[in-house]
This record gives sequence, structure tokens and C-alpha cells, in this order.
Amino acid sequence: MSLRRRVERKRLRAAIAGKMGTYSRQELVKATHPEIQKMFHPYSHKGPKEGYPLYQICHDVSKLPKETVANFVSVPELMRKLKQDQVIRGLLKRNPELETSFERSVWQAISERGVKSSKLFWQRAPKEYIDAIVKAAAGNPNPMNERIGEVAKKLFGGGIEHRTILDIGTFAGGTITSAVEKLSLPQRRLLTIVLVDVNSGVVRRHAVPALVKLGVPKQNIKVLPTSFYNAAVAFKKMPKPLHEKGERAFKKFFSQLTGKVDLITAGASTINFANDLSPLLKSVRILLKRGGVFADWEWGSAEARKRKVNTEELKRIKIWEINQKAVTEFDAYVSFLDFWLGFFNYPANVKKKLFEDIEHSREFDFMGWCERNVKWMEQERINAGKPILADPAGFRNRAYRTGDAMLKAARIHGFDVQKPSYPLANPGKKDTGNVNWLVVARKP
Ligand SMILES: C[S@@+](CC[C@H](N)C(=O)[O-])C[C@H]1O[C@@H](n2cnc3c(N)ncnc32)[C@H](O)[C@@H]1O
Repeated sequence: MSLRRRVERKRLRAAIAGKMGTYSRQELVKATHPEIQKMFHPYSHKGPKEGYPLYQICHDVSKLPKETVANFVSVPELMRKLKQDQVIRGLLKRNPELETSFERSVWQAISERGVKSSKLFWQRAPKEYIDAIVKAAAGNPNPMNERIGEVAKKLFGGGIEHRTILDIGTFAGGTITSAVEKLSLPQRRLLTIVLVDVNSGVVRRHAVPALVKLGVPKQNIKVLPTSFYNAAVAFKKMPKPLHEKGERAFKKFFSQLTGKVDLITAGASTINFANDLSPLLKSVRILLKRGGVFADWEWGSAEARKRKVNTEELKRIKIWEINQKAVTEFDAYVSFLDFWLGFFNYPANVKKKLFEDIEHSREFDFMGWCERNVKWMEQERINAGKPILADPAGFRNRAYRTGDAMLKAARIHGFDVQKPSYPLANPGKKDTGNVNWLVVARKP
């Protein structure tokens, strides 16, 4: 390729990234062209206060899985909008052969929005907000973390030897401490633990002291204040995101860990940044020893795949079974919506209407339902005397993924993996146990 064409291609990528908000370190809502931002997060310009609650409910789809984002954002429409830009139009007119590069760069920018959106949310969330979440969870440990502990116990057996665990998205350490708690004290003393998180403050304040208390030597705990995506960058499995220009990527550290990790744990964390499972799983595979295990529990229902679901179909798809009772995708779907309405403080009568409407529809679009009913919902919430969410919650965004999506990706990446389990499932009930899946994937 000629030098001139290469330069033009670079300019095209930069112009697209500029419009899509992925070039600078500014938040997406400020860095993105408003017309484009609206496509990914319709109410973000109104902000959490003015746009409440649609701002949260019609969430930021930027970090949705790459496989499903096109079910929420029309990519042809996005490309059409980008081509209205003078610079982009000019470049394509002068170099019609750059059409393929154009499409590739748009997809690249879609991925980078995912990386950036969750990273900035967690990195910049105010300390008080993070501490409030930690406090709320303190007396209320998530039992899914215990399942990760059981995986650790089984994997390590009774052997007293040096082991390495890497935890992705540690936060206050609920997942990693549950894993360590299940091990014996002599085993804990021989652990090396690597904690990877974009928000290292919360890790150092809460997770590290908790691990030391459990008997893990402090000098054996390494906090990596970086995105786990940087492992993939270090292993050359993805290009460094444009907004990370000049940042330390812990390249050497990740490279030295190659093939040395016994167990990689994650709890409610890969949903936060796995816009594309491929860099995540490639890095996990490179880091694990042969026979090493990746244990991940997350959240997800059919709502993560597309806006409008076919309710009859969801009722037919069995995801789990308990005491010969099936847990269906429909159970998971309504359980998650029930959780969200509760999270947004909506009273029982709002939930009741929602579920009646779902029962009477063959196809259902939750975001659309909220848009249509927002005035009534809000009035009902106010009448019930319920408060609105704290501001930072408004920056929440989601990339929930079904266990089946993780299963398929883990298989493609060559792991030995069983079907996702739902250890807390409650068939026929609206219960988040129907939404929490656990995938255990072994490197052969
Ligand atoms: C819901 S918390 C995880 C909870 C944690 N497992 C526990 O038990 O306390 C999600 C965490 O993922 C982290 N995170 C988000 N994006 C990340 C990324 N790209 N790389 C590493 N960590 C990330 C956030 O900073 C946050 O601490």
C-alpha cells in the first residue's frame, strides 16, 4: 500500500473515532457527535436528573456485546450519518477503495466505545458512590461468590503448594475473598494473587486488607490498576484503544504471567467490559497454565440480545432445571425486569402492570414500554413516596450477557467447558437467581 493511501486511511480512522467519541479521553457523552451519541444512549444528553428514569432504563448500549449491539443500534444508519461528515466524505470520495477500511474503522470505534464507556464509569465514579455500594453489599454477600470458592477448593484439592490466582474486576473483593476463604490457611499462605481493576482505590481500601486478614501475605498481592483489555493489548490480541494513548499498559507484567496462572476468577465483572469476548478469552487462555480454570459468574437474560423479545419462544427455552422444574429464558427475562424496576424504586402496581402486559404480548419491548408509560410510572413512584436513584447510578450502563453466549465463546476459544449453571435458580419465580449464571472453563 502506498504511503499516501496509508496516511489517508489513518486520517479516515481518526475522523471516524473523532465523531464516535473514541479519540479523546473525555466522556463519551461529551466527546461524541450528539446525533451519534443519541443512537447509543438516547437520553444521555438530558443526564440522570432531567432524563430520569429513561436515562437509566434506555441505558448506554455502547458496551453491549459486539454480537448484539447491531440489534439495538442501526449500523447502516450510523454509517450513513458518519458519511455526512465533510472530512469523511472527502476522504472516501478521493479514495473509493477505502470503503472496506471505513466499515472496519466504524466497527473498531463501536468496540472502543465499549472499552471506554465502562472504564470511565468505574474509574471516575465518585468515591462516596463506590463506598456506598461497598457498604450496601457488606452484610449482604453474594452467594454466587461462594460458588467460585467451591471451584477454587475443588481445583486446588488438599495440595499445599504455590498457586496463582488472577481476579478480573476485583472491586471490594467479594469474589476473590470467597475463593480464598474456601482454601486452608497453609494454602492461603502460599498464594500469589493478582487483582486487575480500573479502579484501584476500592481494591486497595477493601480487597487487599480483607485478603491479608485471611492469611495471604501482603507482598504476594499485586494490584494492577488497569483495564483487563490491556492484557489483550500486551499479547497483541487487540490494538491499543485510541483513547489510551500514552498510558502504561502493564505489558511486561502480563507477559511475565503467561502460562503461570492456576485460576482466573470474575464475578459481575466481565459484563462491565467484555464488549467483545474474544480479547478477554484469548488473554485468559494465554495467562492460564494447562489445566488452569476460568470461573466467571455474571448476569444476563434475553434482554441483552435484542430490544424486542418473543415471549412464547422464551417460555420454550429451558436454561436450567431444579427438582425436575424447568427454569426458562422467560423466567430469567421477567426476573431481571422485576429486579430493575425494584432497583429504580417502582412500587408493586407498576410491576404488576408490566407483567400483565408482558403476559398479553407475543412480542415485548421493555424499553419501548417504559417510554410509553414513563409519566404514569413516575407518578406512581412519587405517590408511593419512593426516592429517585443517586446521581452516579445514572452513569450505569450494561452489557449483560447470557451464560449461553459465554459458553459458545469459550468453546470457540478452545476451552473445555460445561453448560452454564444457575446455582441460585428459582423456577417460576421472579428471582435474580434465574439471571445469575456460572461458567467454569478449563484450559486443556
Ligand atoms: C460489580 S464490580 C465487581 C464485583 C467484585 N467481583 C466483588 O465481588 O466485589 C465490577 C468491577 O469491574 C471493574 N472494571 C470495570 N471495567 C474494567 C476493566 N476494563 N478492566 C478491569 N476492571 C474493570 C470495576 O472497576 C469494578 O470494580
